[in-house]
Amino acid sequence: MGLCGICLRLVVVVEMLLLMGANAAPTPPQLAQAKPGCRTTCGDLQVVYPFGTEDGCYLNKTFLITCNDTHYNPPKPFLRQSTSLVVTNITLEEGRLQVESLVSKACYDKNGKSISDSGPPNTLLRINQFTISDTQNKFTVIGCNSYGLIEGKIRNKSYSEGCISRCESKGDVTDGSCSGSGCCQIDIPKGLRQIAVSARRFRNSSNVSQFNSCTYAFVIEDSQFRFGTSNLSNTAERVPTAVDWSITGQGNCDKAKNNPSYACKENALCYQPPANNSAVGYLCKCDHGYQGNPYLSNGCQDFDECDQGTHTCHTQARCINTPGISLGFVMLLVGSTWFFFMFKKRRLIKLKEQFFQQNGGFLLQQQLSKRTGASDTAKIFSEEELKKATNNFDEKRIIGRGGYGTVYKGFLTDNNPVAIKKSKIVDQSQIEQFINEVTVLSQINHRNVVKLLGCCLETEVPLLVYEYVTNGTLFDHIHNKDETPTIPWETRLRIAAETAGVLSYLHSSAATPIIHRDVKSTNILLDNDFTAKVSDFGASKLVPIDEAQLSTMVQGTLGYLDPEYLHTSQLTEKSDVYSFGVVVVELMTGKKVLSFDRPEEERSLVMYFLFSLKAGRLFEILDNGIVNDDNREQIREVGELARRCLRVKGEERPTMKEVAMELEGLRRMDKHQWDKVEVNIEETEHLLSETSYTCNNGDGSNSAAAYDSMKDHLLVAFDTAR
Ligand SMILES: *[C@@H]1O[C@H](CO)[C@@H](O)[C@H](O)[C@H]1NC(C)=O
Ligand SMILES: *[C@@H]1O[C@H](CO)[C@@H](O)[C@H](O)[C@H]1NC(C)=O
Ligand SMILES: *[C@@H]1O[C@H](CO)[C@@H](O)[C@H](O)[C@H]1NC(C)=O
Ligand SMILES: *[C@@H]1O[C@H](CO)[C@@H](O)[C@H](O)[C@H]1NC(C)=O
Ligand SMILES: *[C@@H]1O[C@H](CO)[C@@H](O)[C@H](O)[C@H]1NC(C)=O
Ligand SMILES: *[C@@H]1O[C@H](CO)[C@@H](O)[C@H](O)[C@H]1NC(C)=O
Ligand SMILES: *[C@@H]1O[C@H](CO)[C@@H](O)[C@H](O)[C@H]1NC(C)=O
Ligand SMILES: *[C@@H]1O[C@H](CO)[C@@H](O)[C@H](O)[C@H]1NC(C)=O
Repeated sequence: MGLCGICLRLVVVVEMLLLMGANAAPTPPQLAQAKPGCRTTCGDLQVVYPFGTEDGCYLNKTFLITCNDTHYNPPKPFLRQSTSLVVTNITLEEGRLQVESLVSKACYDKNGKSISDSGPPNTLLRINQFTISDTQNKFTVIGCNSYGLIEGKIRNKSYSEGCISRCESKGDVTDGSCSGSGCCQIDIPKGLRQIAVSARRFRNSSNVSQFNSCTYAFVIEDSQFRFGTSNLSNTAERVPTAVDWSITGQGNCDKAKNNPSYACKENALCYQPPANNSAVGYLCKCDHGYQGNPYLSNGCQDFDECDQGTHTCHTQARCINTPGISLGFVMLLVGSTWFFFMFKKRRLIKLKEQFFQQNGGFLLQQQLSKRTGASDTAKIFSEEELKKATNNFDEKRIIGRGGYGTVYKGFLTDNNPVAIKKSKIVDQSQIEQFINEVTVLSQINHRNVVKLLGCCLETEVPLLVYEYVTNGTLFDHIHNKDETPTIPWETRLRIAAETAGVLSYLHSSAATPIIHRDVKSTNILLDNDFTAKVSDFGASKLVPIDEAQLSTMVQGTLGYLDPEYLHTSQLTEKSDVYSFGVVVVELMTGKKVLSFDRPEEERSLVMYFLFSLKAGRLFEILDNGIVNDDNREQIREVGELARRCLRVKGEERPTMKEVAMELEGLRRMDKHQWDKVEVNIEETEHLLSETSYTCNNGDGSNSAAAYDSMKDHLLVAFDTAR
């Protein structure tokens, strides 16, 4: 009796202990191990299969860890021959790796001169098979008057984003606060791969260099980072980064089970990674009551027989877990179905685009009539309406004329002004330009892009109706000084920043990257507040997702045309960067891009500018009345930026994103009172209208209207066949 009582009590105690143990630790797999006969450690790392360091020790090459004994003591485990990612921990349960990734840095001497002058330093987080965890990491930049960029691919789309950090003295920086002063952070989007990060300073940092000589950019596991002022002078060379892994290339669990290389072994089951893991494949874990490495033959070992109690407990623990897993699975399924349909839809749209371009107005009409059925956006104007609006296309109403059309100012029945673009003659190639413009514009909705309100299809050629932008072109304001007052420097800088923002958005954020191809001051319109509105997408190119460069007929405007593109016919985003650089020079100097009135060496503004800059004569060629004591430094920086945009080799030019960030940074410096609000560079109002051919994205009620300048649109066309 007594004995039995003790026995019973013992059993209860044991059970309680086991229950507690099971509750406290959702199994750090104690038996997790390398393949038998293989190396189990490399330095401090516990090597765990499917990862391995030698042939035959890993599941496949993806999981190869190169252990470098020869150069390092203790040895260092690198992820698949990568020289930048050192593995520090392998977790089987969540499919996670902890790696140490290199910090990207840019350093400056006490005169503010860049020490590492070989372009933007890049840390490559280039791991194709695995993804950088979006839930555990943050992109972080440390430094004063600096910005960092993170670039990569999401599925096949290129992505780039950045954050800005400002400070003039140590006093601006607070321990523990990474929100824009001395330190800034942004989230990493889901599924970002092929990551490259870079750090830069956007102004002469001679003052700041005393206490902060380098700018650092890195991707760090959030839980491992707390910003301190000491980090301005002391940031590690490597930081911990969380990486998600899984078994890919075999589909989901259901499919994988029938695959000969199914990775889950005896007594193991397959599961989809939890929602906080962005990997796309599957993972394995031991069955109820088994523990160990589910990827190894006989890796999952049975528990001690007398632990019957724990079995129920385990089942309970798993039961709680199951909804999470199945939820993840359902989400994955819904997600992938959605992507599948979006992908198909996009393909369909693309195909339609082709027809659209071939058939011109006919298909446009079809598309539009479908749209109006859905009662959103598209506005189709009747010919009658537009005739009335323009007083029967009265000559006096013409506000722009160019190589391929005429722009009229008109008033709709509600008295709202609009700009109406009409092709000059019926010509298939011109119709194509029109259709192209509709296609491109219908995909963009951006504050600094001229809005397309609708179109008219009853005429021989389609007529396009835009918002009317009240204040003319940038060209007029810069070059027709008799009629307009001089634009102050701050406004010029804002116009440049806004234009750069649009181009950067077109290049990287839009559904399909778009190259504008005709960036120039006549295509930048200004409204009453001198807000820039980029127009004329007649020549723009949608870049097919997989192509970084396109071979095209060289087209553009003399004086703005990228010399490299002219030479090779290979169109890249960097051609817009060049043209933008020319616009910046125009803004700074107030001089025309080409002028045969000037002495020979000054005819090409770009040459003249570069020459003067080199000779240290920048301030002698600036437009009258823009320089003052407060903005000299800023102007110098912008001049330097323009020089980089105008480099002959496209690849040496900065990206539009970098340009936009630098201009934004310089503008903010100007304000001098540091509003400690978090900097948000992202234009949140950029909405992508997936619904392609709506002729109009906005509310037709917008009273402003646009016109598209086609003045002196010199079209340079060369035969690519040469
Ligand atoms: C070890 O690292 C050094 C320096 O990065 C490299 O030169 C060497 O090839 C590496 N050895 C092995 C075995 O990977
Ligand atoms: C590896 O990661 C796991 C889970 O995050 C943790 O429990 C363990 O302590 C880590 N091991 C090392 C050596 O850091
Ligand atoms: C930065 O400014 C200082 C003085 O303010 C000047 O001496 C130095 O040359 C400048 N550096 C660069 C790289 O422009
Ligand atoms: C991404 O590009 C690769 C080749 O560049 C192609 O095989 C693949 O189908 C593309 N994926 C998507 C989702 O577009
Ligand atoms: C450096 O600080 C001095 C004095 O505070 C200031 O006049 C100067 O403009 C600053 N230079 C730069 C490049 O910011
Ligand atoms: C920031 O500074 C602290 C204290 O000096 C240091 O422990 C930490 O590693 C630094 N952080 C980074 C990312 O270098
Ligand atoms: C190796 O594994 C990766 C990731 O699990 C997979 O994508 C790839 O298809 C596999 N390659 C081979 C040759 O099995
Ligand atoms: C990820 O999600 C799983 C299941 O939802 C959870 O058990 C785990 O703690 C999460 N991990 C992290 C690091 O948030």
